[in-house]
Amino acid sequence: MTDARQGLTGLLDTEAIRKDFPLLDRTVHDGKKVVYLDSAATSQKPRQVLDALNTYYERHNANVHRGVYTIAEEATALYEGARDKVAAFINAPSRDEVIFTKNASESLNLVANMLGWADEPYRVDRETEIVTTEMEHHSNIVPWQLLAQRTGAKLKWFGITDDGRLDLSNIDEIITEKTKIVSFTLVSNILGTVNPVEQIIRRAQQVGALVCIDASQAAPHMVLDVQALQADFVAFTGHKMVGPTGIGVLWGRQELLEDLPPFLGGGEMIETVSMHSSTYAPAPHKFEAGTPPIAQAVGLGAAVDYLSSIGMEKIHAHEKAITEYAVKRLLEVPDLRIIGPATAEDRGATISFTLGDIHPHDVGQVLDELGIAVRVGHHCARPVCLRYGIPATTRASFYLYSTPAEVDALVDGLEHVRNFFG
Ligand code: ALA
Repeated sequence: MTDARQGLTGLLDTEAIRKDFPLLDRTVHDGKKVVYLDSAATSQKPRQVLDALNTYYERHNANVHRGVYTIAEEATALYEGARDKVAAFINAPSRDEVIFTKNASESLNLVANMLGWADEPYRVDRETEIVTTEMEHHSNIVPWQLLAQRTGAKLKWFGITDDGRLDLSNIDEIITEKTKIVSFTLVSNILGTVNPVEQIIRRAQQVGALVCIDASQAAPHMVLDVQALQADFVAFTGHKMVGPTGIGVLWGRQELLEDLPPFLGGGEMIETVSMHSSTYAPAPHKFEAGTPPIAQAVGLGAAVDYLSSIGMEKIHAHEKAITEYAVKRLLEVPDLRIIGPATAEDRGATISFTLGDIHPHDVGQVLDELGIAVRVGHHCARPVCLRYGIPATTRASFYLYSTPAEVDALVDGLEHVRNFFG
C-alpha cells in the first residue's frame, strides 16, 4: 500500500460489489486480470441486471400496450414498472414525465426536434439563439447545430478556462433575451468537471429560456433530483449506470411535454389516425413511437434497483475518494498533465491526461497489454481537444467497483509506458 492511500474514507465494500460483476473477473493477454477503467464509456453490468434481462426474455417476452393476453400484460407491467422506478430514482413529480429513448443522444435530439417543430412561444427561428458549451459531448452540439441550420437561429457557447471549468465570465452576453434554450452537461465526459448548474439556470430563467441538461455522466454517479435541479429537460442513458445498452431517458416538465409536438410518428404514439390527420396520445407515449426497447427498460429498472440498494450518496462518496487518490497518484507521474481540473473538488471520477509527447493511442495500447482498459481519443468531445491544442487524451474513469489497487495498477502501467517509449 502506498502512503497516499492513508486516510481514504468512504470506500464501498468493493470485494463484495465486484462479485456481482462477472466481467471484472476476466483476464486478457495470457492471464492478465482486467483493470476496467472505462466506465465513462460504458459501465459493467451486475448479475442482477443480466438476470432481469434473461428472465424477461425467458418468461415475459411479448409486445407492450397491445395484447390482452397474460404474458403481454406482464410485459406491459414490467415496462411501465421500469418507468416508475426511473421516475422515483430521479424524483420526477410524475411518471408521465419519463420518456424512454434508445440513448442520451436520442434524448437530446428529441428535445432539439420538439423545439424545431414547435410553434410560439417555443418557436426557434432566425431571431432566436441557442446556447451550449465548448465542453459538450458531440451529442449535445450536433443536434443544436442541425437545429440552427434548419431554423436560422444563432448558436452560441460558453468557453472553457485553462483549468477545465466553464468560463461564465460573460454569462449575460451569452444568455440573452433572445435565448430560447440553454443545453449543457452536468458533468463533462472528457474533463470530469462538475458544472455550476444553479448559476446557469438562474440566468436562463431570468430571460425565460428553457434549460436542457445532459446528465449522462451524472446519473450513474450522484443523486439526480430533477425537481431540485429545476431544469426543463434532463437526458441520460442506461448503459453508463450498470444498465443495458439501447435504453436512454428523457425527463421533461409535464406542461412542456403536453405543449410540444412529437418527433417520431408511428404506432402507439397516437390517439386516432385517419388518412387526413392524426391526434396524439398523451406523454410519455406521444414520444415513444413504435415498439419500445422493452427488455432494455426492464434491465434499466433492475439497474436502478441495484444502484439504489447500495445508495447513490455512498456511490458518490466512494468515487470521490477514488478520484482524490487517483489525482494525487497521477500527479506523481513525470510528464503527466491532467486535462481538466487537477483536483478532486467539483469533478467527477473521469480523468483525462496526456503523458509527455507519447500519443494517447500508444499509451492505451501498452496499457492494454497489461490488462488495463482506458479510453483514448477525443472522447466525442473534439472541441475540448481543440481548445487545449491536443489531438487526443488518455482517459481513466472510475465507478462503484473501482479500487485504489486499480489506481496503483494504472500508475505502474504509466511508468511502464514511459520506460517503453524511452
Ligand atoms: N459518451 C461515451 C464516452 O464518453 C461513449 O466515452
